[in-house]
Amino acid sequence: MIDFRHVSLRFDEGLVLTDMSFTVVPGETLVILGPSGCGKTTILRLLLGLIHPESGSIVIDGRDIVGLREREMGQVRRTMALVFQGAALFDSLTVRENVGYRLWEEGLQTDEFIDQRVDESLRFVGLHDVSEHMPAELSGGMKKRVAIARALASTPRVILYDEPTAGLDPINTHIINELICRLHTKEAVTQVVVTHDIDTAYRVANHLIMLHRGEKIFDGTVEELKASDDLHVRAFLSPGGVLSTPRCFPTKDGGYQVIDD
Ligand SMILES: Nc1ncnc2c1ncn2[C@@H]1O[C@H](COP(=O)(O)OP(=O)(O)OP(=O)(O)O)[C@@H](O)[C@H]1O
Ligand SMILES: [Mg+2]
Repeated sequence: MIDFRHVSLRFDEGLVLTDMSFTVVPGETLVILGPSGCGKTTILRLLLGLIHPESGSIVIDGRDIVGLREREMGQVRRTMALVFQGAALFDSLTVRENVGYRLWEEGLQTDEFIDQRVDESLRFVGLHDVSEHMPAELSGGMKKRVAIARALASTPRVILYDEPTAGLDPINTHIINELICRLHTKEAVTQVVVTHDIDTAYRVANHLIMLHRGEKIFDGTVEELKASDDLHVRAFLSPGGVLSTPRCFPTKDGGYQVIDD
């Protein structure tokens, strides 16, 4: 269980997250949706304890991670895995070595166990055949799949994804979406998926929150999101529709404003 409670965070330019609260129940896939710069990656960094909020608490499995010492945070972090925005594979390691890296580094398992876990993880994403390839030999979509296999290999309770389908073609996007769904149904892993891809959000979400400039403006299901009449939600889901309405103008930061008469 992850519980974000009244979290606020400020960088030099001002508040990046304002009084952010949401809950992720075990086994669900939460999607965090919102435009560029709204604070999505920042939430993942907070969950991993890489940065700390100015106020509020972040409770993971009953333990508030705010102010936790690095050693204890390390224990919490070991239960989680992050699929980075750009896959972030080690270029000088093979696919197999990339997937097993964390397990070898932890040194808690036998080589035999790790080999088996790496095989299982690569089979799960359908890339067992390329286990001896180097990352440079893979397409962008395959790299993302390797990144998912790497996350899966450490048997995490929580997988965090930062823009898992950004820059992928529709077929690879579909494959990644299906893998996320399968991890939900078959492995019952808890997942937090940060994305601005609406199709991915609709496909994988059990629960969805939407951010706008660091504030939560929606919390509910996909059906509830589609039915929302909040102007910011509508603008994100169908920008053409909102911007074509009278008195609505784009702003320099990629948003829009409604000019009152
Ligand atoms: N270390 C930092 N120092 C100062 N400002 C930062 C820092 N990290 C992020 N920000 C600012 O915080 C805001 C939110 O950033 P964040 O990376 O969380 O956005 P995002 O929603 O992930 O965007 P994108 O979809 O483009 O990845 C942005 O305005 C960004 O400039
Ligand atoms: Mg981001």
